[in-house]
Amino acid sequence: MSKKQQPLKPGEKILFTVAGAFVVFAVIAFIVMQFIIARSDKPLFETKTHVELSPEGQKGSELFRVNGCTTCHRALRNGTNMGRTADLDGIGSRRSLDWIYAFLRHPEQTYGAPTIDHHAGEHSAAYVAELPAKDLHAIAVFLSELKADQGAAAAPVPPKGESPFIDTMVDMFAPKEWKEKYHDIRDDLPQASKKEVKP
Ligand code: HEC
Repeated sequence: MSKKQQPLKPGEKILFTVAGAFVVFAVIAFIVMQFIIARSDKPLFETKTHVELSPEGQKGSELFRVNGCTTCHRALRNGTNMGRTADLDGIGSRRSLDWIYAFLRHPEQTYGAPTIDHHAGEHSAAYVAELPAKDLHAIAVFLSELKADQGAAAAPVPPKGESPFIDTMVDMFAPKEWKEKYHDIRDDLPQASKKEVKP
């Protein structure tokens, strides 16, 4: 290079200083956060799912791991974080044992729609339906025992108490006709009713 290096312009200096300050701040904040997590005995996020395993469910949880379900799914802190369907924690509050068992054996008929991975053919999870029925039943029992508490992402019921956020969302996105056609499930719950609970 024949050209001499130009000194930085004042604007560039400010820009680099600000960007550098952000990086330094992020690094410090990260270290502080790790330190706090390590020292604290409270979990960073409240766990909103719970599980009580029966003997068959216990066996199912082992089968769930050894049969590679955790490659695509997540349950009890094992597995991947691929997305909503992949996270099976709390599935027992959304789906019944019968539904889960039926899905594992006949995914498409049970879904009533095409599936990405579970149906027969050259699909990565097609092997699931081929597992022994006894094993699938144990896995289904295990999954049906993964319960979500009220307010968990997987729970059918919204958090306890009044939620201005949910009210705003319902007002904004639910078309008028829905209010006549459907009723607000929060009204069915004494403790979660938006009308009865005062903050
Ligand atoms: C290659 C990835 C993959 C593997 C391996 C896999 N699954 Fe899935 N699973 C999916 C996907 C994707 C869906 C959503 C349905 C679809 O499109 O196939 C799903 C859906 C499900 C559902 C339905 C969830 C719901 O509420 O709709 C259950 C239950 C399930 N899987 C259980 C299992 C079990 C048990 C195993 C192991 C024996 C397993 N899966 C292995 C990818 C996988």
